[in-house]
Amino acid sequence: MKALSWIAAPLWPLQLVSGQKSFRANPLLGSPGLNRRGLHLARVRLAEKMAESRRKRLSARIDPALKARYEANGYLVIENFLPPDEFAALKRDLEENPLRSWERREGSTVTRRGSLDLPDIEGRAALERLMTGHRISDLLRYLAGCGGEPLIHLQTILAEGDAARPDPQNTLHMDTFHSTAKSWLYLQDVGEEDGPLRYVPGSHRMTPARLEWERELSIGAARNPDPEIAAGSFRVSDAMLEKLGYADAKALAVPANTLVVANTHGFHARKASTRPTLRSEVYGSLRRNPFLPVSGMHLHSLPGLKGRLSTRQAQIDELLARYLGVKGPWISVPPKRIGDPASI
Ligand SMILES: [Fe+2]
Repeated sequence: MKALSWIAAPLWPLQLVSGQKSFRANPLLGSPGLNRRGLHLARVRLAEKMAESRRKRLSARIDPALKARYEANGYLVIENFLPPDEFAALKRDLEENPLRSWERREGSTVTRRGSLDLPDIEGRAALERLMTGHRISDLLRYLAGCGGEPLIHLQTILAEGDAARPDPQNTLHMDTFHSTAKSWLYLQDVGEEDGPLRYVPGSHRMTPARLEWERELSIGAARNPDPEIAAGSFRVSDAMLEKLGYADAKALAVPANTLVVANTHGFHARKASTRPTLRSEVYGSLRRNPFLPVSGMHLHSLPGLKGRLSTRQAQIDELLARYLGVKGPWISVPPKRIGDPASI
């Protein structure tokens, strides 16, 4: 075992009640014996129960019709999310004015992150209204089943449409072992061929068959040859979906100005692009310790962090690279408008 892993040893027991999901990084979480006796399962069940209780407290701000749709499917599709004038102004701004940006490559796909931190969008009225409003954040909190401050930035997917270099995001998977949410406000139409989100309706619910599948997979997960499974993000095949009693995945091809929000404990993937695609969206995510009894008190809500999360993330990446030699996947690139080509 690497020296660095042993330095982390005192944290291993504490991580049992945290969001740590990697079976490989923590020998307790990865222990075949403990997982045979139900360690992973106990974490899944307790996290689900606690998310349910926090979700109830967060539900007052959510439209009852949206709640019912979420309960049934695990995701929401809201067309015409912004008034047409507001959407047009927002899009025009991002086409004309660059944002501070970072890029990463996975297979034949480049993902770009543009900062929507409040200092970066000062004076850009439509963006400011979107980022100081609560609509996206409230939905992310409800679906994630936790309070706190989501991370929201501009995301651009530049897919080269090369099937020979697969992207791990194209395989149906769950992000982690507990409720967590992601959102996409699409700035262009997303057709079937443009790499839309696929989601397995109802897979946010933990059925007995699903729990048994997770228990079995957890026993050998630490040594699973698929690094994503060893890291706690279980992959599922179409045949297994059927065995588990879930419906087929649905590709969410939607028009521009649609907000999609999904609980990514449910099975989802980005459908592979069959042609070169450039797509931008205001992207949000919220994931916190699933065992917190409270829904408030989030570090990201503190002054200096709230509205500045992209900047802080970039600073942390820089410190890790400089002092620990740990290089993250994100590379700083010159400021970009939507529509600009990739730099990496
Ligand atoms: Fe995912």
